Amino acid sequence: MKITKILAREIYDSRGWPTVQCEIILNNQFSVKSSVPSGISKGPYEAIELRDGGKRLSGQGVLKAIENIELFLAPQFLSKEPNGLEMDMKILAADSTPDKSKLGANATLALSMALYKAQAFSENVELYELIAWVFGSETVSLPFPMFNLINGGLHSNNNLIIQEFMIVPIGLSNFRASMEVAVNVYHELQNILKKMNRNFAIGDEGGIACGIEDDLEALELLQKAIDTVVKNSGSKCVIALDISAERLYNASKKIYNWGGDKLSSEELMYVYLNLLEKYPIYSLEDPFASNDLESWAKLNKIADGKIQIVGDDIFATNMARIVKGLEQKAANATIVKPNQIGTITETLQTIKMCKEVGVNTIVSHRSGETEDNFIADLAVGASAGQIKAGGCARGERIAKYNRLLTIEDKLALHLLNT
Ligand code: PGA
Ligand code: ZN
Repeated sequence: MKITKILAREIYDSRGWPTVQCEIILNNQFSVKSSVPSGISKGPYEAIELRDGGKRLSGQGVLKAIENIELFLAPQFLSKEPNGLEMDMKILAADSTPDKSKLGANATLALSMALYKAQAFSENVELYELIAWVFGSETVSLPFPMFNLINGGLHSNNNLIIQEFMIVPIGLSNFRASMEVAVNVYHELQNILKKMNRNFAIGDEGGIACGIEDDLEALELLQKAIDTVVKNSGSKCVIALDISAERLYNASKKIYNWGGDKLSSEELMYVYLNLLEKYPIYSLEDPFASNDLESWAKLNKIADGKIQIVGDDIFATNMARIVKGLEQKAANATIVKPNQIGTITETLQTIKMCKEVGVNTIVSHRSGETEDNFIADLAVGASAGQIKAGGCARGERIAKYNRLLTIEDKLALHLLNT
């Protein structure tokens, strides 16, 4: 099939801010669409998201990014067979900056995702199959999901310092069973809050966002909900936290603002070690700011491979930054967010390198999302190992989990037929 048209349009994300959608029309007949997410607790090393500035939509418009797709990128792909890998190379050549600041990572990624989808469609394969093929892998696997059941930090308007309180069901034989446990914990958490006469609501990432007093209460309630569900089902759940410490750090004073307390890196380390002792925490994301590398290395040494120390803002899905971090032994895992780097091919290269050097990878959504479920196929096709796509509510979060449920069924059927 040939590409007959490439359209780009401004649509809206789950927070009501504009974002880029790209539509590729094949053979004048079929079409695929992709849309890019947008983070709010962004690190300083992420690829540039192009916003229009000015008064319209508080400066958040993406009309320039759209123009960049339609005028500068699309023409070279018209009348060609879609090919994600080859065409990403052309996108990279057209932008030619290390941070996509010429065309905007929201422009390059929207097109890159749409090209991969168009290729899968025209070759009549599933997107995860195409990704596995490009990745050079003959097998695929479902990721372990991390469900974000309580939203704090910049993802809500509450007192919680820690940004994401996630649960990871373990010891289960499939994704569907994990989802079931997570949904049960999510509803149990709501039951507990109702019994406590707390008013609550859902935050940006589909977890509880108010009605909880502080971080310690959040952990206590989460543990209580887990215990109730586990008791009734025989399953097990561990906890993963995203501190997102970048926003708490005062680099000139070298202190962290921890809910009003001014903590040194040492003192913050002590907070974490206490939490690790009290709760079944298996993963800690962005525990320190990206230029407080020494503290990362200290914690990673203490963790000794038993706790997952995850770099998000510090690595920004960027191979060079991950290599630098590994030299310092800063972490043993990385978040993978396609819009931090700007193309799917670069995202795949990053995952591949991490696998080669034994760094865990967690494919991740952003707090501002759309119904696009590309990351589910990405996590499966690249056998990334883990995914975080939010809590157990909100359509744009559930879209990713629902796609994983569908993929799991397809893979089971495939196994049956072979
Ligand atoms: P963001 O945060 O999508 O708002 O940047 C998510 C995260 O820090 O993992
Ligand atoms: Zn993070």
